[in-house]
Amino acid sequence: MSIRSAETLSSSFYTSDKQWAKTIEGITANSWQFLGHESQHFADNKQANVSRLDSSLLLTKSNNRISLLPNVCTHRASQLLANTSNADKIVCPYHGRRFNLEGKLEFMPGFSKTENFPRACDHLKQLPLENWDGLLWGNLNGESPMNRDIEFIKERIGHLPLQDLKYLPQYSKRYTLNAHWALYVDNYLEGFHIPFVHPDLNQVLNYGDYQTLCQGDVVLQIGYTDKESVSFSLPAGHVDAGKHVAAYYYWVWPNTMLNFYPWGLSMNVLLPIDKNYTVIDFYTYVLDEKLYIELNGFDGIDKTEQEDEYIVEQVQKGMESGFYTTGRYSPDHEQGVYHFHQLIKQRLLV
Ligand code: FES
Ligand SMILES: [Fe+2]
Repeated sequence: MSIRSAETLSSSFYTSDKQWAKTIEGITANSWQFLGHESQHFADNKQANVSRLDSSLLLTKSNNRISLLPNVCTHRASQLLANTSNADKIVCPYHGRRFNLEGKLEFMPGFSKTENFPRACDHLKQLPLENWDGLLWGNLNGESPMNRDIEFIKERIGHLPLQDLKYLPQYSKRYTLNAHWALYVDNYLEGFHIPFVHPDLNQVLNYGDYQTLCQGDVVLQIGYTDKESVSFSLPAGHVDAGKHVAAYYYWVWPNTMLNFYPWGLSMNVLLPIDKNYTVIDFYTYVLDEKLYIELNGFDGIDKTEQEDEYIVEQVQKGMESGFYTTGRYSPDHEQGVYHFHQLIKQRLLV
């Protein structure tokens, strides 16, 4: 159905317990989850614990090989690592089962009489991992390739040296939101609200030129500015050469957002906790730290984020009110929201 005649998702998608369970199961079964930049995890450590969706994961690095493993012992399911470690072995804190950094079981006390041990399933399973110029992505269960979507993103930002991105923990932050994660995505995927919700941002962006492109699991929004403001230096032959691009905003199905600015990359990763509660991790990675501070001050992107969270929480109240079932889309301004809702319908069988 075309955007001109379509209805938005029903409020029951955001409010029903049954739908919530189906949604989490659906996105966990096959989605790419951003796990951080290589330099962020392995500057001082060889092992790092990362949580995504309901899963606790273990990233390890040994001889330049990065592995993604379940952070769950194959004996009686203890979590293996609470934070980070520089050790050369993974040792379970419960009964001492020991694995190498690639997940191979090497030793287990008290098991000399256990028959047929170890079996293949006693090792830690290697999970699918993509290392895109230092940006690490994991797939918890599925096999869907990520390359097609990465190519679409690289078309515009492929000239940036992503391998050199530097993680700045002091400008990275965790927010909590009293709303469904998909309402946060709905809001992210349209610039329609910018003149109403973000008066300061509206001064910087030429809202009339705002552009939205949808492809596969990705929605790209391009924010343009005037020639006096800071914009990307785009190389000759770039698809947007000659334009004043202030930001490329990429959303990747289902819960990751990559915001490229002339100073570097800001990422938002949503952790859906409950149907009306979401944790949002903001990671700041810079290529030009001076420019980052000049443009964002020491408060970073805080103000815009708080404006977004306030309005999304207002929508959550509306969804729960009983006065709303579905609405309609603006074909001029809400193509991104429409694309997201179509993916939800296909993937989560809403
Ligand atoms: S649960 Fe890990 S050794 Fe027992
Ligand atoms: Fe916003």
